[in-house]
Amino acid sequence: MPDLYTSANATDLAAQAHEWLVEKIQRHQAASQAPFKLALAGGSTPRALYQLLAKSIDQNQIDWGRVQFYWGDERNVPADHADSNYRMAYESMLSLLPIPPENIVGVPVPEGNAADAAAHYEKMLRARLPLNSSGFGEFDCVLLGMGDDVHTASLFPETTALNEKIAWVVANHVAKLNTWRITLTAPLINAAKHVAFLISGSTKTPALQILWLGPVAPQLYPSQMIQPVSGDLTFFVDRPALGEIQLPSSFRIVQ
Ligand code: 6PG
Repeated sequence: MPDLYTSANATDLAAQAHEWLVEKIQRHQAASQAPFKLALAGGSTPRALYQLLAKSIDQNQIDWGRVQFYWGDERNVPADHADSNYRMAYESMLSLLPIPPENIVGVPVPEGNAADAAAHYEKMLRARLPLNSSGFGEFDCVLLGMGDDVHTASLFPETTALNEKIAWVVANHVAKLNTWRITLTAPLINAAKHVAFLISGSTKTPALQILWLGPVAPQLYPSQMIQPVSGDLTFFVDRPALGEIQLPSSFRIVQ
């Protein structure tokens, strides 16, 4: 049963997600010495959350030395490129927190070769993530956004990455963007303990309606593939994105 947090706007959404994530990290750190393994979302919505995490360093009571940062997907560009998801997270958060460099596990994007980058990143994840009962790496938390076309991470409609059942990370050619992406696969995302979507803005309403109420067609609407096997699924959605959507009766409305 997914949890749903509704908010008035993107700022309130970020504040809710911030409180939720800090609680998850603190609860983990109280129970375990293992680092909290967090996969970050790209795009623009999560930026406000990252800025809150960076700003409230002293109030968070988080041992940042025991948090590892990964990416759910990456564009096939260098880390200093304007489109880089690594750069967005680094500038808005990671550069402002006392995080050991080895805890920032970005996608190694050599010039142009997405397949090499994906293979290399999978090796890096296999060296760091514990395995779940199905043999997939287990993140503590995966943050996701959703596009107007119901894509998530870089799992875009009718692309080859959607068919991947074994690999953890793949290169994915996105014809409509005429570009290569590197992305976690749906089975790896679904192995996480906590998966959270951050969805803001009225442009997302039609996609959200389809995600929640159908038609069910994951090849066309890839966010429908995100169904954690044993972890929990949480939605942070602001009212502009909610529009007049009838909330699914199966959701637990938290706020
Ligand atoms: C990316 C993201 C992508 C993003 C959605 C939503 O690399 O762009 O991983 O999946 O989360 O496109 O983006 P916004 O949050 O900017 O709307």
